[in-house]
Amino acid sequence: MIVVSGSASPKLSARVAKQFKCQLVRPELWRFPDSEFYLRIGAELKGEHAVVVQSTCSPQNDNLVELCFLLDAVRDLGARRVTAVVPYLAYARQDKRFKPGEAISLRTVSKLISNAGADEFITVDIHEEETVRNFSIPAYNLTAMPLLSQYLSRLKLKDPAILGADQGAAERAKRVALELGAEHDYLEKRRISPEKVVTQPKRLDVAKRDVVIVDDIISTGGTIVEAAKILRRQGARNIYAACTHPVLAGKALQRLRAAGVKRVIATDTIEHKVSVVSVAPLIAKAIH
Ligand code: R5P
Repeated sequence: MIVVSGSASPKLSARVAKQFKCQLVRPELWRFPDSEFYLRIGAELKGEHAVVVQSTCSPQNDNLVELCFLLDAVRDLGARRVTAVVPYLAYARQDKRFKPGEAISLRTVSKLISNAGADEFITVDIHEEETVRNFSIPAYNLTAMPLLSQYLSRLKLKDPAILGADQGAAERAKRVALELGAEHDYLEKRRISPEKVVTQPKRLDVAKRDVVIVDDIISTGGTIVEAAKILRRQGARNIYAACTHPVLAGKALQRLRAAGVKRVIATDTIEHKVSVVSVAPLIAKAIH
């Protein structure tokens, strides 16, 4: 087996290679004056199982094109089996046509990856589990929630309450809470009058408790900022945010801190300074 590192995932690629105790290849990648990419893989791949690791975080389009070049090149260089590991899949949230005329971006991305040369596709905490069906090759979605939970268990949280940032994240919060042996809930938006909507934990009282808000992705931080404000008003002690994908666009991290979030804990599906949990063991376990 050979792990081929995409430029968006240098640390995760090294960690995956370490798990397998196998060779790590870092392809040569540079830009022509007109900004097109040049890519070259300087390794013998004939007959090998090539595991290409490339996140499609920002700049999404560049990282996606690089991923396709990598997959096509390793296949063309004679790899016997090609596994595409895309820990964060760009465009996953545009998985249907919300308004007439919209592009179903996830479907297009799935076609590109399926046709570029991969035999199988692995991702982590895709926005909607069932959307891996868009791929025409075997596609697997892994969850990092137990790994986040293991990390949280070392923080010695006081009477922790694990909350999904919204109903969509309720199941993720449950996964984290189960491993932690903690209570879980989610933040529910309820209309109490024609003009007024209130957001609050559906069941749990968070007063004087350490609260962890769980989500698959933190992008602008807007969802967590709103949640943190509410939880502070309700007397939560410390507020943590845990997610798989730290997109953290623009000033998201500063906004989260200003809203009273003590720490953001995330994985290396996107390599960021808050990526304290590695999904490498999860990926290694999924590849046989
Ligand atoms: C939405 O359904 C997702 O699970 C996240 O809650 C959302 O994408 C987070 O975005 P933002 O950080 O911009 O609020």
